[in-house]
Amino acid sequence: MVRRYLPGAAMSAEQARDYLAGQAVLDEHALDAWHGFAVQHLADDRVIGDVGVWLASDRPGAGDVGFQFHPGYHGQGYAYEAMRLFLTYVFDSLGLSQVTAGCETANSSSWGLMERLGMRRLGETGQSLRYGLTREQWAASAD
Ligand SMILES: CC(C)(COP(=O)(O)OP(=O)(O)OC[C@H]1O[C@@H](n2cnc3c(N)ncnc32)[C@H](O)[C@@H]1OP(=O)(O)O)[C@@H](O)C(=O)NCCC(=O)NCCS
Repeated sequence: MVRRYLPGAAMSAEQARDYLAGQAVLDEHALDAWHGFAVQHLADDRVIGDVGVWLASDRPGAGDVGFQFHPGYHGQGYAYEAMRLFLTYVFDSLGLSQVTAGCETANSSSWGLMERLGMRRLGETGQSLRYGLTREQWAASAD
């Protein structure tokens, strides 16, 4: 059920190994690439989710972010905490000027998280919502 609103199928163990090996050596500024980061729960010593950003060559300075968390760790603010740190990374370290994200209108957990993060609703198409946040908006919300 955690993948209800996500495209594609879950990875096999082998695909996951290949994916992680590729991520480990990927230049963090590489374009037309997904940059994924595992989120580890320190006390439980396990990976509970991942966050990431797609950097596209036709959208310099912008990135499309995504997130997914283990259902056993929903509703406790972990995704929010991880995404706050991740947005600091994409704006301050990667130097992006804007992030965007899309989700299905029915995925209220996803757009609820985006709104808690201060992302603004940019528009609605069919069953989908688009959200965005500029570096300036992020800086203002962090004050
Ligand atoms: C989208 C997703 C990551 C949101 O996870 P989440 O746990 O709801 O998000 P948050 O970390 O912001 O947690 C918010 C909830 O924790 C609660 N909470 C408890 N302690 C908290 C704290 N210290 N800080 C913030 N929130 C806290 C909030 O009240 C809120 O509860 P509510 O949902 O009952 O209102 C999750 O639903 C998911 O993985 N979905 C499947 C994958 C998916 O659809 N990804 C997006 C594709 S577009």
